[in-house]
Amino acid sequence: MQPFDENLVFSTVEPLDDQRWSTWPATTPSERGPQPRPEWVVTSAAAIDTELGVLKTGKEADVFLIERAVPDDPAQSVILAAKRYRGSDRSDFHRSAAYTEGRRMRRSRDTRAVASKSAYGRAVAAGAWALAEFGALSSMYEAGVPVPYPVQVSGTEVLMEFIGTGTMAAPRLAAVRRTPEELRSLFEQVREILVAFARAGCAHGDLSPYNLLVHDGRVVVIDLPQVVDIVANPNGMAMLERDCVNVCDWFVRRGLEVDAGEVLSELVGYLW
Ligand SMILES: Nc1ncnc2c1ncn2[C@@H]1O[C@H](COP(=O)(O)OP(=O)(O)OP(=O)(O)O)[C@@H](O)[C@H]1O
Ligand SMILES: [Mg+2]
Repeated sequence: MQPFDENLVFSTVEPLDDQRWSTWPATTPSERGPQPRPEWVVTSAAAIDTELGVLKTGKEADVFLIERAVPDDPAQSVILAAKRYRGSDRSDFHRSAAYTEGRRMRRSRDTRAVASKSAYGRAVAAGAWALAEFGALSSMYEAGVPVPYPVQVSGTEVLMEFIGTGTMAAPRLAAVRRTPEELRSLFEQVREILVAFARAGCAHGDLSPYNLLVHDGRVVVIDLPQVVDIVANPNGMAMLERDCVNVCDWFVRRGLEVDAGEVLSELVGYLW
């Protein structure tokens, strides 16, 4: 037997400061998005992730723009959004108890650590939120809801499809100015999103014109870590109602005649 494989090819590039080797090869199958995988997902171990900038910093997470590409192979290059949950002091899941009621952590040591808000506890919580968002994105994607395709989850980071053109992120619904006909179309899409969630027995839990992106006239829903099971969670119905009111109010303020109560009763009809 040869001491080493003479055919081994060594990389001629090394990641720079704002780069890393693609984290894809290190993920397990359950940390990867649903099949069939879109053809644009770059899975090569030769790929390098480059941080292009920050899309938005938030209270609980920061969203970065990432390019995942195989050097010198333009066919294998994609822009992704990386949502990184904070495990640090600034992480403040003030509403988290209402959302996670009825959920259980696998290890009671972790449950106690999260409750104690120790550094370890905060890291566990950040990882749990990343997993929750990845899981919700995966189920909703499979249910046909327009969400970014979830590429992978690694620790506290969710990598997903970037909704935008080139490196320009799609605007939030809140920033969109449209004619009444266009508004009507956007509202119908939002209603369909609410219906699809309800059919799956879920409420988004934080639906607002800030968590809906408009890309080429299509509405895409984001920010799913707090998706709740409407029946199992004692706050589920209240959250469903709040989702309806938040989005309907926005359309009403823009002159569209929609009724949150009507939408809510339609949704409830899909639950049972
Ligand atoms: N997949 C994506 N494609 C394009 N832009 C995105 C994507 N995911 C997030 N963004 C941008 O980053 C912002 C923050 O994302 P998100 O709402 O998921 O995080 P958040 O920390 O909960 O933010 P907030 O506290 O403002 O709700 C979005 O409003 C959007 O502008
Ligand atoms: Mg958000």
